Amino acid sequence: MRTFTTIMVTGGAGFIGGNFIRHILGKKEFEGRIVNVDVLTYAGNPLSLRDVEEAHGTKRYIFKRADIRDREAIDRIMDEYDVDCIVHFAAESHVDRSIYGPGDFVTTNVNGTFTLLESARTHWNGKEGKLFHHVSTDEVYGSLGDTGYFFEDTPYDPKSPYSASKAASDHLVRAWNHTYGLPVTLSNCSNNYGPYHFPEKLIPLMIANALDGKPLPVYGKGENVRDWLYVVDHAEAIWRIISRGRIGESYNVGGENEWKNIELVKRLCAVLARTTNRSEDEFLRLITFVQDRPGHDHRYAINCDRIKKELGWKQSVDFEKGLELTVRWYLDNQAWVEEVRSGEYSRWIEKNYGSR
Ligand code: NAD
Ligand code: TYD
Repeated sequence: MRTFTTIMVTGGAGFIGGNFIRHILGKKEFEGRIVNVDVLTYAGNPLSLRDVEEAHGTKRYIFKRADIRDREAIDRIMDEYDVDCIVHFAAESHVDRSIYGPGDFVTTNVNGTFTLLESARTHWNGKEGKLFHHVSTDEVYGSLGDTGYFFEDTPYDPKSPYSASKAASDHLVRAWNHTYGLPVTLSNCSNNYGPYHFPEKLIPLMIANALDGKPLPVYGKGENVRDWLYVVDHAEAIWRIISRGRIGESYNVGGENEWKNIELVKRLCAVLARTTNRSEDEFLRLITFVQDRPGHDHRYAINCDRIKKELGWKQSVDFEKGLELTVRWYLDNQAWVEEVRSGEYSRWIEKNYGSR
């Protein structure tokens, strides 16, 4: 098993990165410290890690506001903290935003990854015991018909500016391993859900709108299929890969839990009704079919046998339980929703969508 003294987590003020930090700082097998490098875009909020700061202080958790595209800033952090592992989450992550404004997706997801790889290569300079883990998505494989699965060797066929930028960054990471011998691992995961998920993505948007009595906008006919995984299960998968995964390999991670969007939204309405003691109808009535997303990928589905067989990982939170935990978390954390929706996010929404 590999152990690390200082893990640089990029994008740790976002949804999955923050959950990963909380998860591994709670593990007895991890005795090191985390340096969270995040520039705090609209999607990053230090509020999401206040409990971690309070629990661990600056000995084990350090926050550095920096842009992964800024080589000097990254080099300084690598030097100052003697980083021996990078777990790279930082990205522009929302497909709809990539359609309206792809520029930041290319500069952050592609150039930012390049900057980190170069900084790691120079600093580590062939030394043992280092690792660069790249967190990626199943969307790099493209879109499936009604049957079949993505395997680790499925050819890349990204369709949106978001998935194309993630595919490009995956290729860079593999090339740095192949050409320069940089020790890397990769993971390609399906749709995550859970606490601290920014309320522009399907599940948290539906929860927030339902609680406000606002329309629940379902794209097209709601027939597109996604595979959903509780975010803490993803965090555990990444922990296992950085600890014991094979260098140079990619691991698919997924929920084996496929839902048509419309079925998922209806199921969420049932969970909301149960949790709030209100009638299901009150929520179902809010479902509104809206114009489809351009180039909307039909279906994603993951085969994750590799990580199960090699690393003994499996999903631990079933969907019913996960949805309930998520709805309860949003009910208990309305102040967080208010906070992350204020400022830059609401201005962007107004500019691009008006108020919906
Ligand atoms: P998120 O949008 O919630 O968080 C992204 C974080 O990165 C934010 O804190 C943001 O401030 C930071 N960031 C953005 N640009 C930056 C820059 N230039 N420099 C430094 N920090 C920057 O994203 P997420 O949903 O937590 O996704 C994290 C990673 O996981 C991404 O790489 C994404 O592609 C991948 N992924 C996400 C999902 C999913 O369902 N959300 C599934 C599979 C893979
Ligand atoms: P999203 O959460 O944006 O994740 P991704 O596009 O990366 O899969 O969307 C999940 C699915 O939900 C996708 O098929 C698009 C659909 N969707 C809606 O129907 N309405 C919405 O308001 C949003 C944000 C997404």
